Amino acid sequence: MLLNRDDWYDTSRDLDWTFTYVEASDAFPARWSGVGAESADAWQAWDEPFRVSYRDYVRIQREKESGVKAVRSAMMRAGVYEKLDAGHVAASHLHMGTTCMVEQMAVTMQSRFCRFAPSPRWRNLGVFGMLDETRHAQLDLLFSHDLLKFDPRFDWAQKAFHTNEWGVLAVKNFFDDIMLSADCVEASLAASLTVEHGFTNIQFVALAADAMAAGDVNWSNLLSSIQTDEARHAQVGFPTLAVLMETDPARAQTSLDVAFWRSTRLFQVLTGPAMDYYTPLDQRKMSFKEFMLEWIVNHHERILEDYGLKKPWYWDQFMHSLENGHHALHIGTWYWRPTLFWKPNAGVSKDEREWLREKYPTWEDNWGVMWDEIIKNVNDDRIQDTLPVTLPSLCNLTQLPIGSAMSRHDLEPHQLVYKERLYSFDSEISQWCFEQDPERYAGHRSFVDRFIGGEILPPDLGGALAYMGLTPDVMGDDAYGYAWAKDYVTAEAG
Ligand SMILES: [Fe+2]
Ligand SMILES: [Fe+2]
Repeated sequence: MLLNRDDWYDTSRDLDWTFTYVEASDAFPARWSGVGAESADAWQAWDEPFRVSYRDYVRIQREKESGVKAVRSAMMRAGVYEKLDAGHVAASHLHMGTTCMVEQMAVTMQSRFCRFAPSPRWRNLGVFGMLDETRHAQLDLLFSHDLLKFDPRFDWAQKAFHTNEWGVLAVKNFFDDIMLSADCVEASLAASLTVEHGFTNIQFVALAADAMAAGDVNWSNLLSSIQTDEARHAQVGFPTLAVLMETDPARAQTSLDVAFWRSTRLFQVLTGPAMDYYTPLDQRKMSFKEFMLEWIVNHHERILEDYGLKKPWYWDQFMHSLENGHHALHIGTWYWRPTLFWKPNAGVSKDEREWLREKYPTWEDNWGVMWDEIIKNVNDDRIQDTLPVTLPSLCNLTQLPIGSAMSRHDLEPHQLVYKERLYSFDSEISQWCFEQDPERYAGHRSFVDRFIGGEILPPDLGGALAYMGLTPDVMGDDAYGYAWAKDYVTAEAG
């Protein structure tokens, strides 16, 4: 007779044993589990609500896969990709190049949960997480492979993380830390709870909605399918936080505060420009700020409150950054466009500008005036003056340009000396993150550190582009060939 799942489930996921030949601390070293011997018992309380069996998991995943593949073949047959807007396509290049290998890194993180997590229930769930992430990486590769014949930029789904492109280095720096190097507890707070449960909604919900509106049904469908898995395995963060609040609440507060800021900065470059500038105006659903407030900030505040944690000390500065950071990163990435592997859309035609003004009341004062300079140069046929000759200095925590975290007017330096080396930061918050655990961040050399150190030859922009692996067929340029600037020619003449 077949037993009901409830009759056998607890036995299967609580499978554990007592070591006799080795010490428990050798089999589950604190370095990887994140849990010292003194609190080992507390982790027995770790629980998850999903109650998933392998049989059900395979059945459901198989259905999801058939759904994705059916849409894929229909869309390929209909030739949908060739009709897509150039601005929207840039968002998919950016996403594939910076996300595909993060999915693959997540496989390694989940496999660490399978082996080293401090509860057998968590180790059991890690198996499903590992299969989820394998599926995500494979889906991104399949999608990109299909489109390779239309654009070599899709090669960057696989290639990006094997290059030294500066934006990719920033992404890699963050995920190497929270996925590949962190212990289970730290990884589940930073990656599962903060990134997967929170920030990936911007990529997988907001971008999926924009992609659908742009007619990119295939990509939208792929993103949504991935999101259904995230919603499940991202839950491991909650029971982890619950136990940590019993054993070490101060560690929980610091870990989440650091992870929240670092994620904010990363998504300001990964998704902010895609939502507020690349997506065609009539297809935008929400601004990046609106989406952040509704999906990320509200969620995060609720989690902090529910578990008895405080808002991060930097909350006011964070809100200020939410108004500005992604605009700074957008104008920066557009200006340094030869250093990108996608073609950014400036997104500042007159109509678009009106939308930006309405969504961000301080936009004109901070960023509009800088775009006016660029527009003038474009319309005076001085494109060379809109292109970079040097590299920006970079933050030693986020690896993003200094001056890109707050408004144009917040440029006071944030620096410290650690073990005789000078470190620079994009904000007081990034400096604070570094100070919480300097050994974790010290030693890494930013792109500019490498440039100054003589690793990049010849030491000019051309040498830097070659070092980044940027070949002419993928190198960034304005998505619409500057056509948007014509808006302003007519106005000036009239
Ligand atoms: Fe994933
Ligand atoms: Fe995930």
